[in-house]
Amino acid sequence: MLKGKEVLLGVTGGIAAYKSVLLLRELTKEGANVNVIMTRNATEFVGPLTFQTLSGNPVTTDMFSLFKGAEIGHVSLADRADLLVIAPATANMIGKIANGIADDFLSTMVMATHVPVLFAPAMNTRMWDSPVVQANIARLRSMGYHFMEPAEGELACGVVGRGKLADVEEILEEVKGLLYDKDLAGEKILVTAGPTEEHLDPIRCLSNRSSGKMGYSLATVARRRGAEVVLVSGPSCLPPPCALAPVYCTTAREMEQAIHDHLDGVTTVIMAAAVADFRPADPAAGKIKRTGRQTLELEPNPDILAGLGQNKEGRFLVGFAAETDDLIANARLKIEKKNLDMIVANDVAAAGAGFCCDTNIIKIIDRDGTITDFPMMSKEKVAEVILDHLAARKAGK
Ligand code: CTP
Repeated sequence: MLKGKEVLLGVTGGIAAYKSVLLLRELTKEGANVNVIMTRNATEFVGPLTFQTLSGNPVTTDMFSLFKGAEIGHVSLADRADLLVIAPATANMIGKIANGIADDFLSTMVMATHVPVLFAPAMNTRMWDSPVVQANIARLRSMGYHFMEPAEGELACGVVGRGKLADVEEILEEVKGLLYDKDLAGEKILVTAGPTEEHLDPIRCLSNRSSGKMGYSLATVARRRGAEVVLVSGPSCLPPPCALAPVYCTTAREMEQAIHDHLDGVTTVIMAAAVADFRPADPAAGKIKRTGRQTLELEPNPDILAGLGQNKEGRFLVGFAAETDDLIANARLKIEKKNLDMIVANDVAAAGAGFCCDTNIIKIIDRDGTITDFPMMSKEKVAEVILDHLAARKAGK
């Protein structure tokens, strides 16, 4: 996802410096070329060799190493980079930059670069709360620098409070958000995800094997590309996607209500949820006891997407068709029946596709019947191609 991107990772001297090793790992796994700049204090916490080995690039630790022959190439780092992320950023580094001090390579680089700079602060809670640090951050924010909020929890000094370095996953998502084109800006996309659960009694339910991964990936990537996103989620074990607060619901009828409650201003609905088609006709108030053979009577749930299709109000509707037989014919039928603009079809019986796995194999079918095939891809990559397709169709391409 970050292939071809040049990232500068600044590491300053705090105990959280060890976490920037993990950030470096994630950035390189995503395909970014990373050059690491460490302050002298940072090298007291983690050895430069660790960053050098994992990045495959020399690590800059000393302003004057710039003048030693081969290292001169580093002068151009600021020009080549797409983004500079400082993680962890100490109160000292934030203070220096806010006040125009450039007395080491990292602070000099910040002053020399025109690319977006993201700070991920980490420090003791009282330092974080200090009016000096907050004023420095406000000053830098007003100049267009980007900041992650530190997390709350137990700090290395034993104090519990705000000041921990934000999760590596959240920093990575923020980096992607700063690097991606905002081609979906102006769109408000409502994505549904996960299964629904229909209760049989207080402890049992009818549900399906949907994990929510496809819908969560769509919501994440759409936000990254500038869309305003509403994520309506059935019960899922996944953590909420970074910077999104899902609207949780349990049953199909609750999901329908949640969608209608959040439809204001929505330009596109992507129904990736695996909605239960039926619910028990007479859910029991108490636990159903083992009394031999039982017959379960089911009542149909509303078809949420078909309901949206009957009253489109200009919204672009995307459905999913998870099938085991006659994939294309069934998917085409659903476009008609539910009045959709496109449908994402997948054969859930195929290896590497469907519920619970991290990959998917899809075909996108447009309203005019055009079929576009895709190979097996990660669900994040699938989300990218679905949104590319959607953006192209909405632009009339
Ligand atoms: N869907 C919905 N409400 C339902 C069932 C499905 O909104 N009660 C949506 C799904 O989120 C999906 C699309 O309709 O985007 C197709 O779902 P699918 O389960 O494949 O189709 P069904 O209409 O339920 O048809 P069938 O189960 O008979 O294949």
